[in-house]
Amino acid sequence: MKRRESFMQRLVIEGEKRISGEIEVQGAKNSALPLLAGCVLVKGEIVLHNCPRLSDVFAACRILTCLGCRCRSQGNTVTVKSYELTGSSVPDELMREMRSSIVFLGAVLGRTGECSLSFPGGCELGPRPIDMHISALKQMGVSIKEEHGVLSCSCARGLRGAKISLSFPSVGATENIMLAACLAKGDTVIYNAAREPEISDLANFLNACGARISGHGSSTVYITGVKSLHGCEYSVMPDRIAACTMLAAAAVTNGEISLKNARSQDIDSVIPVFDQMGCTVYPYDDRIYLCGKKPLRAVKTIRTMPYPGFPTDAQAIIMAALTKAQGTSVIVENIFENRYRHVDELVRMGADIKAEGKVAVVEGVKRLYGASVRATDLRGGAALAVAALAAEGQTVLTNVKLIDRGYEEIEKQLSLAGASVRRENS
Ligand code: EPZ
Repeated sequence: MKRRESFMQRLVIEGEKRISGEIEVQGAKNSALPLLAGCVLVKGEIVLHNCPRLSDVFAACRILTCLGCRCRSQGNTVTVKSYELTGSSVPDELMREMRSSIVFLGAVLGRTGECSLSFPGGCELGPRPIDMHISALKQMGVSIKEEHGVLSCSCARGLRGAKISLSFPSVGATENIMLAACLAKGDTVIYNAAREPEISDLANFLNACGARISGHGSSTVYITGVKSLHGCEYSVMPDRIAACTMLAAAAVTNGEISLKNARSQDIDSVIPVFDQMGCTVYPYDDRIYLCGKKPLRAVKTIRTMPYPGFPTDAQAIIMAALTKAQGTSVIVENIFENRYRHVDELVRMGADIKAEGKVAVVEGVKRLYGASVRATDLRGGAALAVAALAAEGQTVLTNVKLIDRGYEEIEKQLSLAGASVRRENS
């Protein structure tokens, strides 16, 4: 599995180039990862199409390999053979590579009845607690010990179905419970489940492997345990946040873009924001067309919420577009504690933003200026690239490895749409 060494690389972006053209949206990172974890449950061969070539996907494949699966990737197709597992623990260095590897816990427990992995810990967005994951798995009969940062989980008599009510519609906890419940004895019900499209993609994938899941996409998900899962061929859903990123790039450069393989229903809560900004947006089932407007208009208030509300992952990206909008926009980040780290970097480019606690106030400015800026996290880094497209002069964006976690060669995607972006070793 060839890894892109993207450490110490940077993007050099010449601003004020209109984004235009037709772009194919990549497969969804936040679906590919739980689907790859789901392969652990399958005694067979899985072929995943439209799998994005991302460092997080490569990290997930390394975890699968470490558990005894055989992974092969050709272009955007990943083939996993998981007939036999040889282990049930995920080494610390692999856990550190990707916080969301906690989603392997439910799958490994479901297949082997035991699992040990290191606590994912906090990340650039703030603490990433897993209390809901842990309490749900305990309800399913798992005994969990946490010592020196390692979670040792076992379930000698096998997982049993349970009725689980989540205090918050956590995406990861919903995924972990679904994965653990597929091969459990009896029925599991998840109340207040996450409703994100990635949850439905995981359920559709697992059902294609012989699982019995229903209610996905609603707040109550039902899983009836089965004896085993068989292989399947499946195509990962399009990445709705990558779609928002390209739309924001076109909006902020007064460009126009047609996104192929984009499901507009997945971003029903974001499209009206582009409308309010003055853009013309035509959403179709498998394509989205957007024409920007100069200058963009400010948006009164954006509140990030669990799906179907405005997605937290699009917050930084839309903020970047609003930095040049006429007027004052207010953003309220309700999902993560520390998701404004991109603000200081945008201010270095001339943006006028005040962030305090959950609230960020964006005063539109006439000009942004190219500057040396650093990606603070995956979506914050993408936001800086969006802002750089509309800035006067050159921007050097370092710490590209964080962007490569979620965007497949972002410089190529943007260059195909008319941007002047090159990747360099710094
Ligand atoms: C998933 O993270 C996504 N990651 C995130 O995308 C996304 O921002 C998030 O869902 C919300 O949509 C992947 O799918 C790999 P949560 P996840 O559990 O599962 C708290 C990106 O940029 N919480 O819904 O970790 C948690 O701290 C990434 O692509 C608990 O308190 O999100 C957070 O404040 C970033 N206890 C909130 O819930 C728990 O046991 C939402 O977390 C679990 C979560």
